[in-house]
Amino acid sequence: MPPVTRIPIIDFAGVRAGDPAALQRVGREIHDACTTIGFFYIVNHGVPQAVIDAAEHVARSFFAYPVETKRRVAVNQRHRGFNALGDATMYQAKRPDYKEFFSVGLELLEDDPDVLAGQALRGPNNWPDFMPALRPALYGYYEAVASCGADLLRAVAAGLGVDEQFFAPRYTKRMQRTQMVYYPPQPPQSDAGQFGVAPHTDYGCITLLWQDQVGGLQVREIANDTWVDAPPVPGSFVVNVGDLLARWTNDRFRSTLHRVINASGRERYSIATFYDPTYGALVDPRELGTSEADLKYQPVAAGDYILGRINDSMGYRKKLAVQGTTA
Ligand code: OGA
Ligand code: NI
Repeated sequence: MPPVTRIPIIDFAGVRAGDPAALQRVGREIHDACTTIGFFYIVNHGVPQAVIDAAEHVARSFFAYPVETKRRVAVNQRHRGFNALGDATMYQAKRPDYKEFFSVGLELLEDDPDVLAGQALRGPNNWPDFMPALRPALYGYYEAVASCGADLLRAVAAGLGVDEQFFAPRYTKRMQRTQMVYYPPQPPQSDAGQFGVAPHTDYGCITLLWQDQVGGLQVREIANDTWVDAPPVPGSFVVNVGDLLARWTNDRFRSTLHRVINASGRERYSIATFYDPTYGALVDPRELGTSEADLKYQPVAAGDYILGRINDSMGYRKKLAVQGTTA
């Protein structure tokens, strides 16, 4: 039996199988979840367990290296690579997050036109030569989750009453970021201001999170003004709306605060995928059913918005910006 949770669990099998009735039904379920708690689980998501197992395996092996070794792939200005403990501080948080993470994005060559033009966050990944097994396993996961994310957005579109292909042309060269995250056990003397991840909302459109069996993710429920657990549900991804999709829907969808406290005394691993559009895709609420009279947000390029949010939260980027090397 899955654990009791107030976050809806949505069966995604029919959508992945291309069943039109399932797309409409799941679209409505997703719409309900996104306009209320802003979080849901998907099960039967179609990403092969072997792909997930391989990614989990390399995550555990990678973070087991000494920090000096991991720093050989220290995060670069394209936001690719390793972030040590203390590199990320969520806005308003008193202390940096108690986590390490490793980020990858869409693999683009140096001679790609957007890379040549200096488009921020774009380029090749920062793969470790000391661990050749990482690349195929993590990039295999990256691609498999992308395919699930594309189907997820078909259901989101159906739920919003627009063409199910609305998002596809806006994702042709996606800004997807996938991060393996490692949460060491928090020291027992940690005070209430120490989090694995401090309360935050995600920046982009939609997040698909794989988490191990340890638990620690919590979601802010507005209706009751409380934190509710998002416990591990075997075979699931946790999905949530980010700020950019909330903006795209003129705030009909809710980008909900969430946090991680790893009080388990054990190591915790997760893999978060921020499934985000092409850099130049215009996020205009009028294209998702908002009238001119209700419009709260002017159109913004997806990449400009995401870059601004990453620049604000990543300490390493502030240092780079001072040195004048931020792309
Ligand atoms: C994040 C996040 C949750 C987790 O990386 O934005 O909320 O369980 N992660 O790792
Ligand atoms: Ni998050």
